[in-house]
Amino acid sequence: MLLTLLDVHQVRNLQKIRLEPSPRCNIVYGANASGKTSLLEAIYLLSVARSFRTPHIRNVISHEQPHLQVFAKILSVEGQSHSIGLQRSLNKTRIRIDGEDINQVAALSTLLPVQVINPDVHKILEQGPKYRRQFIDWGVFHVEHQFLIAWKTYYRVLKQRNAALRQKSGTEAIKLWDTQLIQQAREITLFRETYLQQLIPVFNQYVQKLLQLEVEMHYQRGWNADFTLTETLDKNLEKDTYRGFTSAGPHRAELEILYQGKPVQTVFSRGQQKLLVCAMRLAQITHLKNQNQQQSVLLVDDLAAELDIQHRRNLVELLIDTRAQLFITATEAEALDIPAEIEQKMFHVEHGEVKEVVQ
Ligand SMILES: Nc1ncnc2c1ncn2[C@@H]1O[C@H](COP(=O)(O)OP(=O)(O)OP(=O)(O)O)[C@@H](O)[C@H]1O
Ligand SMILES: [Mg+2]
Repeated sequence: MLLTLLDVHQVRNLQKIRLEPSPRCNIVYGANASGKTSLLEAIYLLSVARSFRTPHIRNVISHEQPHLQVFAKILSVEGQSHSIGLQRSLNKTRIRIDGEDINQVAALSTLLPVQVINPDVHKILEQGPKYRRQFIDWGVFHVEHQFLIAWKTYYRVLKQRNAALRQKSGTEAIKLWDTQLIQQAREITLFRETYLQQLIPVFNQYVQKLLQLEVEMHYQRGWNADFTLTETLDKNLEKDTYRGFTSAGPHRAELEILYQGKPVQTVFSRGQQKLLVCAMRLAQITHLKNQNQQQSVLLVDDLAAELDIQHRRNLVELLIDTRAQLFITATEAEALDIPAEIEQKMFHVEHGEVKEVVQ
């Protein structure tokens, strides 16, 4: 789905803005602190009800305001349209789809898949495995919506098993949870492995185009592959009871990305890391479009950061080729150099006001 109309109220310094984006390419430009990233943040909020900059919603709501609001009209490839809205205060989230209150954020995400590429992207490679698991799970969820049920059930059971471990409830009580845990773990693993099997060839093509080299992507399930999860849970029972948590399972899975046998984050430059993460995101968007005919919205904040002119041009070309709806920020519009034949709109942001620039 693509955004055809966007209303943002009280998101950081954006008090009240409305825009009608292009279905293809939107260039958002303006001086530092004008509100460009805040505009991308508003779009992201509409998909997942949280920010990509902070876990604290109070930082995102405009100062002195009780809540933020984002509304949009969206349109599918088949021409179906919906209106969606989000209101968030410090302690309440309200979601509306086509005039009805909905209590599942996933309903918004399903309609509006959104990806972000910003100057922080290298963190997905450098920080803990949680970020790589989130990368996989974004893709699995959008391709296979049933994944969410397995995922939620798994985490619920895991929480209960961990509570039993902490309370030293005894082997029998703990093992009661294992059957369910193992069954959901099997489903999650199968979903993730099947997804990655399909994603990796697409990813490899993007890596080749953006970096002109080869990397390897390996999924590790979250426990030693020489043993079943049942065996592993049994083997770890004493250690897990002592520590009070379950130390093996899909919640400990890892996605390893290697260049010449070494983790990319230890050998790649910042620019290479950014291009690699771009390859990961572009692969997901392309795969989702091929599998489900679902178009994504791609938010690219400060595209130019870390990239030389040749890599920048190359990336822009690939971004456009995905047919995702693009929102790209820059301090100067001309820095991006989008080919004139591509349908595009330009928006100038100044002190929290957004104006379309008619070219
Ligand atoms: N909760 C808030 N309420 C009001 N204003 C805020 C809030 N949080 C941040 N701001 C202000 O919003 C402005 C816009 O920030 P934003 O990060 O969107 O700028 P930007 O255009 O992306 O700048 P840059 O080019 O430096 O990345 C800043 O002046 C910031 O201080
Ligand atoms: Mg910014």
